[in-house]
Amino acid sequence: MKTAALRFVSHNATFEAIGLALPDWPLSAIVEQRQPKLHLDGTSMVINIFGIATSPRKVSNSRIILEASLRAVIDAGAADLSYDIVSLSEHKVQSCLACKVCGKDKTGKYIPCVQYDSDDVRMLHEKLLQADGILVSTPVYFGLPSDLFIQFMNRTRILRHQDFRLANKPVGIMATAGRRNGGGEIAITAAWHPFLRNGCIPVGNGGGTSQYGAVGWATQSGTITQDVWGMQQGFEVSARVYSLAKIIKAGMAETGYAFPMEFSETDGKPPFEC
Ligand SMILES: Cc1cc2nc3c(=O)[nH]c(=O)nc-3n(C[C@H](O)[C@H](O)[C@H](O)COP(=O)(O)O)c2cc1C
Repeated sequence: MKTAALRFVSHNATFEAIGLALPDWPLSAIVEQRQPKLHLDGTSMVINIFGIATSPRKVSNSRIILEASLRAVIDAGAADLSYDIVSLSEHKVQSCLACKVCGKDKTGKYIPCVQYDSDDVRMLHEKLLQADGILVSTPVYFGLPSDLFIQFMNRTRILRHQDFRLANKPVGIMATAGRRNGGGEIAITAAWHPFLRNGCIPVGNGGGTSQYGAVGWATQSGTITQDVWGMQQGFEVSARVYSLAKIIKAGMAETGYAFPMEFSETDGKPPFEC
């Protein structure tokens, strides 16, 4: 605990610089559910963060670190932060069928996913699209993010093929692992890949150490709160995503420029029929 306490002190300047105070761990009632409060009008400068918890467990360490860290950023002074968290395990997310129907046709018209009416992915995509920043928490499974995470990310192919509709959103990852050196950082960087392919901006935990993200260390459901260092990293990742989302949103509002990315059906494909 001594290290964590020292770290709180050493990071004070960093958080003061972005107008945040440091959290006072442990927070009370960190698993309390919050109602979605996305601001959909797009006119205010509220910073919307969408959190995706990807554990199959009902009470999961990864959901706890995600929820607690976002609440800590608000408690630390981010009054303009609004967040919404979903646990993928509570929603129906079918595998991508690789039918290649979705995306964009030759005239540029967007074609929906054939499964949009048979599961919850359309709704989850709407939440992703409304978000200014994205946070993902995942348990580490054999050194990788969870299967629920992979299954969901495969379904974002449609957003990539519709001119990278998730482009320029900052993304931070929190992984919870049962073992020290059990693959936490590998799982984090693995989780970056589908976001990179979507044109998102993966970020770490910002100043102090600029690490890959947050690695929480816990096994039994709920024990993550004892990992002060991990919880602190979760806070830092959330603060980093929040502050970059704010910079990007303010920059786009000021310049009127959104750095659009156009999807190419042909670039990088073989020059022969295959
Ligand atoms: C199928 C499975 C695979 C796992 N693989 C790893 C692993 O590779 N490394 C590790 O440190 N922990 C591993 N764990 C432990 C979990 O990552 C750990 O218990 C984590 O806190 C669970 O998070 P959750 O409560 O959010 O589900 C594994 C657990 C399961 C069920």
